[in-house]
Amino acid sequence: MKIADVLARDLFRGKTAFITGGGSGINLGIARNFAALGANITICSRDLGKLDRAAVELRALGAQVLTVSADVRDAKAVAAALETSQAQFGPADVVISGAAGNFICEAEKLSPNGFKTVIDIDLLGSFNVSRCALDQLKATRGSLIFISAGLAWLPYSHQTHAAAAKAGIDALMKNLALEWGRYGIRANSIAPGYIGETEGTDRLAQGPVLDAVLQTTPLARLGTTDDIGHAAVFLASPIATFITGSVVVVDGGHYLEGPALLNAAQRKLSAQA
Ligand code: COA
Repeated sequence: MKIADVLARDLFRGKTAFITGGGSGINLGIARNFAALGANITICSRDLGKLDRAAVELRALGAQVLTVSADVRDAKAVAAALETSQAQFGPADVVISGAAGNFICEAEKLSPNGFKTVIDIDLLGSFNVSRCALDQLKATRGSLIFISAGLAWLPYSHQTHAAAAKAGIDALMKNLALEWGRYGIRANSIAPGYIGETEGTDRLAQGPVLDAVLQTTPLARLGTTDDIGHAAVFLASPIATFITGSVVVVDGGHYLEGPALLNAAQRKLSAQA
């Protein structure tokens, strides 16, 4: 199923989506869905080569695409990336804060700098992107979308750093929804489950952990990057204009079972390493 077979191909014509981490994985999947519905796309990450390869794919869908390099931890670089995007496409209508970093490491082995690194990319990065995009979002009465995860509210083994960061992102999202609603800006999070063919799932769910994911997902499959793209399109679309401050869970029902089985598999895997 292609999104343009279901929704109007020009739903986002003349609108701009600014997407951090848009060079690969879930965020590229989001970019692909907005591109297929007519949006101009700015993708932003540290790795310009990766962005340029992604841009080829997005342009093949008919989108105008801009690639800008910035580390989301650097507010000045983020501000410059947003200015470049505005100069090309006008103010952003949709801002997706998807850039993230993660790895498997139990808390007792994690260095303070390892913890800080993930907090800085995920949480500080999300604040930088939101804060720097504020004027553009005011101009468009736009939509902010954050990428959270189930570990924001349930403890996953070896994920202290990412859990703290994602819980912080959801708190940030709710506070911005509260404060910026008066500008017509909506803020929401998407909490993806395990998504196939992404660096995240490759890094976080190996062997028996991946088996445990499938056993604890009622819909019995990994998600696709399009599953997350579809949720983002919905949240940014004219049929979601009263939705703000929400976490939309897109995980095939995995959170209903919770991470106990995964945690046991991860602990066993680490003990063998
Ligand atoms: N286990 C434990 N600690 C780790 C680690 C791991 N696998 N990988 C990095 N760290 C620690 C480092 O040891 C370092 O701490 P130290 O100075 O006390 O030794 C700290 O994290 C920073 O590492 P560094 O490699 O300098 O950070 P970076 O900014 O270059 O990279 C990461 C950030 C670590 C998140 C890296 O994995 C990355 O860039 N990931 C991007 C893609 C990604 O993670 N995608 C998946 C999203 S789910």
